[in-house]
Amino acid sequence: MNEISKIQPKEAFEWGLRESHGFDKGVIHEIQRAAETGIYRIRGFGAKREVPTFDDLVFLGASISRYALEGYRERCDTSVTLGTRYAKKPIELAIPVTIAGMSFGSLSANAKEALGRGASQMGTSTTTGDGGMTPEEREHSTQLVYQYLPSRYGMNPDDLRKADAIEIVVGQGAKPGGGGMLLGQKITERVGQMRTLPVGIDQRSACRHPDWTGPDDLAIKIRELREITSWEKPIYIKCGAARPYYDTMLAVKAGADVVVIDGMQGGTAATQDVFIEHVGLPTLAAVRMAVEALDELNMRGKVQLIVSGGIRSGADVAKAMAMGADAVAIGTAALIAIGDNDPKWEKEYREIGSGAGYWEDYQAGNDPAGISTQDPELSSRLDPALAGRKLANYLSVLTLEAQTLARANGKSDLRNLEPEDMAAMTVEAAAMAGVPLAGTSWIPGVDTAAR
Ligand SMILES: Cc1cc2nc3c(=O)[nH]c(=O)nc-3n(C[C@H](O)[C@H](O)[C@H](O)COP(=O)(O)O)c2cc1C
Repeated sequence: MNEISKIQPKEAFEWGLRESHGFDKGVIHEIQRAAETGIYRIRGFGAKREVPTFDDLVFLGASISRYALEGYRERCDTSVTLGTRYAKKPIELAIPVTIAGMSFGSLSANAKEALGRGASQMGTSTTTGDGGMTPEEREHSTQLVYQYLPSRYGMNPDDLRKADAIEIVVGQGAKPGGGGMLLGQKITERVGQMRTLPVGIDQRSACRHPDWTGPDDLAIKIRELREITSWEKPIYIKCGAARPYYDTMLAVKAGADVVVIDGMQGGTAATQDVFIEHVGLPTLAAVRMAVEALDELNMRGKVQLIVSGGIRSGADVAKAMAMGADAVAIGTAALIAIGDNDPKWEKEYREIGSGAGYWEDYQAGNDPAGISTQDPELSSRLDPALAGRKLANYLSVLTLEAQTLARANGKSDLRNLEPEDMAAMTVEAAAMAGVPLAGTSWIPGVDTAAR
């Protein structure tokens, strides 16, 4: 394998060398890699290109025209109920940050258990994934959402009944229109047994669910799932951010209790790099379009909206909620909180051609941190109890940060945040989020919003 040029910008400048903007070192390296191997690049993590994000919005805060709430004395509620439309037993969360579906197979059993422990400590939910439900994660998750996927891996009615909610996965933000991938090195006896797959052979799961071709069939499938679970469990529909306005409308029409929209920055366990970087809409644009669809149907508050894809801080949580989300889901950030990319493993990351802060090869199965691996020695490095506590700490910080911002905007409940509390720093963000450009009352394209 060829190596990327090590010439530093300063050295290049001194020698009068100029890097091409279009054919920079990274592009040249990728062409050379493709020419040598004839294989496209697969990786995990999320989009790395720069896109408009919640960072392009700011909260206005309070002064004379708005009254702020006292940080330590006045209450700011963070609880949220999901699934109030039809479910007999909606999900009650203490905080509006949930853990997104990440499969056992892509993640070690210890990592899945850690996610359950951390979420439960903070009174929130975690989610299974494209590999079925492990007994460890069920035992350690007080509220567990069970994914029902195009692959049907691990699907069985007993586990449906053991879950607290069901998430029908239509797609993911990292690859809307694409299916899952799990390379042979991660298909051990246990993973293969749960997915009914041969050990050690690469698998690609379906990108379309075999049980339906459109919203009418989907409505029938949802009814079936409700019957199997005695109309108790909330049913979510998760979509990648392809056409969020129409997809949200159709999900509501099909009977969803909760719609989950996952923007293009959303993480993945393994997908083609070209997919991660070039398909789907940024989360910022997707939230607004989904909220517009709920408003149009007069379903705001009746069908809840969960937003994911690139959520990292309490500011992201608060801004997503100000735009109309009822809750957010996190994947990559939760993995980082439990130990992914930890500098503690720097030496070993380097030995496999990466570094702490750069690790993205979740597909490879050799994760030194013991998270995206099925190797027994590596997996045993992750202590699920300790990692769960770290996740709980991180979730606590996200919540405290979001509360701080809400109080500064005079809000006694995170759900009372609204677009009027924010300004956009760029014309692009103003147009995508439907929030006025800072210092103006201008929202570009407000009467020609894209569908
Ligand atoms: C390691 C990993 C495994 C994932 N597995 C699944 C899965 O099985 N099913 C699914 O719907 N999404 C899966 N996702 C996507 C997440 O559910 C979620 O949509 C995404 O991670 C959110 O974006 P974020 O990572 O920026 O927070 C996975 C993501 C990661 C990082």
